[in-house]
Amino acid sequence: MKLTIIGTGYVGLVTGTCFAEVGHQVICVDKDAAKVKLLQSGGMPIYEPGLEELVKRNVEAKRLSFTNSTEEGVVKSDIIFIAVPTPPQPDGSVDLSFMESVSREIAQSMTGYKVVVDKSTVPVQTGEKVAETIKRYCKARVDFDVVSNPEFLREGFAVEDFMKPDRVVIGVRSQRPVPAMKQVYAPFGAPIIVTDINSAELIKHAANSFLALKISYINAISVICEATGANVQEVANGIGLDARIGRRFLDAGLGFGGSCFPKDLSAFIKISEQLGYDFQLLKEVQRINAEQMNRFIKKIEETLWVLKDKKIGVLGLAFKQNTDDVRLSPAIELCQRLQKEGARLRVYDPRAMEKARAVLRDAEYVNDMNEVAEGCDALIVATEWPEFKKLDLERARKALSHPIMFDGRNLFDCEEMERLGFIYKSVGR
Ligand code: UGA
Repeated sequence: MKLTIIGTGYVGLVTGTCFAEVGHQVICVDKDAAKVKLLQSGGMPIYEPGLEELVKRNVEAKRLSFTNSTEEGVVKSDIIFIAVPTPPQPDGSVDLSFMESVSREIAQSMTGYKVVVDKSTVPVQTGEKVAETIKRYCKARVDFDVVSNPEFLREGFAVEDFMKPDRVVIGVRSQRPVPAMKQVYAPFGAPIIVTDINSAELIKHAANSFLALKISYINAISVICEATGANVQEVANGIGLDARIGRRFLDAGLGFGGSCFPKDLSAFIKISEQLGYDFQLLKEVQRINAEQMNRFIKKIEETLWVLKDKKIGVLGLAFKQNTDDVRLSPAIELCQRLQKEGARLRVYDPRAMEKARAVLRDAEYVNDMNEVAEGCDALIVATEWPEFKKLDLERARKALSHPIMFDGRNLFDCEEMERLGFIYKSVGR
């Protein structure tokens, strides 16, 4: 099928590339001329495992191309996906100005029936606004359908999640675009759920809020574990094997960050408020998440006492494993708060150092995880990168002025760390 994706951020670029991979003809549109040029010349604006090879392969096969022109994308395709940013505003609500301007541009370029699909994360009832906007600005007076098709991929696992989705949600106002949408997604072999547009939009916010709630729930349990000597990982395993609960997203730690959960929670709370419902439950999820970071910093302060002029090594800057994304990263927040207390930092991340430099200044960036501990008073694990498990612990112990480790992601075994001579503090264990 002929598809256009407007916006080449995480969602847009992965969507376009994976659609091309299964045989569709895809045009990716972006206003950012430098980004389009980079992509046209084989470069990658983001790090996402497996994506670069896939882009290359599909560009070579002439199934995937990049352009600045929305008009070209609209004219040449039957289905147009909108995957533009929907950033947060200071009051927690969502800035929908990109959605609005893209809807207008699509409307102005339409010369025949088109299906316009919203893939960006938006508050419930946005689809109605998109439809109104297109109708208002469409000079050609042609038919169109608006569809809501929320995306559930995780950064760092985006290609894998897109190629093997748990489900595909298609929200529609009429049945007309349903066969085409089913055809687009047929190669992925996932269950397809067809709903009304508002339900589809709500599914996205409800899913992300629920996952954030799961994380805050286990983080709250971790507090009780610390107070009683229980082990949060054992509790998570014990409840997670109940199929009604599930083990995933029950890893206690520094709390959730990134460009999705914090923003989507605020947005969902805000839209609920506008609809007359005070979503206290989700406010508590936010509060527990903030408190988790405070508690971790308190742990560091209680052990090291004065942080001023202490040298601290930090492993991990990305907001999670497998990504170079540092937006609202708990690791960066932790570093900034330690710096505010006067600590001097030596930091390392397998992928996110370049992006971190722009937001975390005055830190010493180290190129090898095994050198981070050199001359430090303590070592912190701030991101759940699996390779940190391969840290040379013997070398780190010798390099530290005193062998103290704070593990914000529970990567190491408590008994093993004590046997190696570390003062080892993790979360909920
Ligand atoms: C999240 C959702 O998982 C995706 O389904 C969704 O499509 C995406 O948001 C989005 O709305 O675009 P993402 O933000 O990429 O994906 O990353 P997650 O893997 O969900 O992790 C979010 C944060 O939660 C990270 O900071 C991670 O460290 C933390 N986390 C995750 C925990 O603290 N504990 C866990 O058990 C799992």
